Amino acid sequence: MMPAAPQQPLPSTCITVNGQSHVLQVDGDTPLLTILRNHLYLKGTHYGCGSNQCGACFVLIDGFAVASCDTPIWAVAGKSVTTVEGLGTPEQPHRLQEAFLAGQAAQCGYCTSGILISAAALLSRNPHPAEADIHQALDRNLCRCGTHNRVVEAILRAAGQPAPRTP
Ligand code: FES
Ligand code: FES
Repeated sequence: MMPAAPQQPLPSTCITVNGQSHVLQVDGDTPLLTILRNHLYLKGTHYGCGSNQCGACFVLIDGFAVASCDTPIWAVAGKSVTTVEGLGTPEQPHRLQEAFLAGQAAQCGYCTSGILISAAALLSRNPHPAEADIHQALDRNLCRCGTHNRVVEAILRAAGQPAPRTP
């Protein structure tokens, strides 16, 4: 019987999440979502479809909203990742988080972190979006609870724009 070949050590990957650097020894094809939730214990980013279809797992990568379920960790090396935990804190919430709370723009909340990420990416590029811009920015985010109207209103308010109140 042949002796078993020695196992190759896992490669090291350095990523920056919410301003903190992490060196991880994991398979380079591990999805970023797995790293965030299971290694860094950042549970605000959610698993929905696992195939870049729903937006529940969105994070900012160098300012762009990206599906972390569909992004291997090797692709994030040297880039800056921001999760919903990095947008703001309970003490110092992001203006979007304030607006979502004030406008009750969530029901179950499963989609909310991904929507906040898409909205943050939008406002960073377009501080005064029209309603159509918001719809376009959220076209990869699904909400099964039907909060879309309140979400759009909250984003308009966060951008300092008047928004009609949903009954
Ligand atoms: S879980 Fe990533 S897009 Fe749905
Ligand atoms: S608030 Fe429940 S899925 Fe959007």
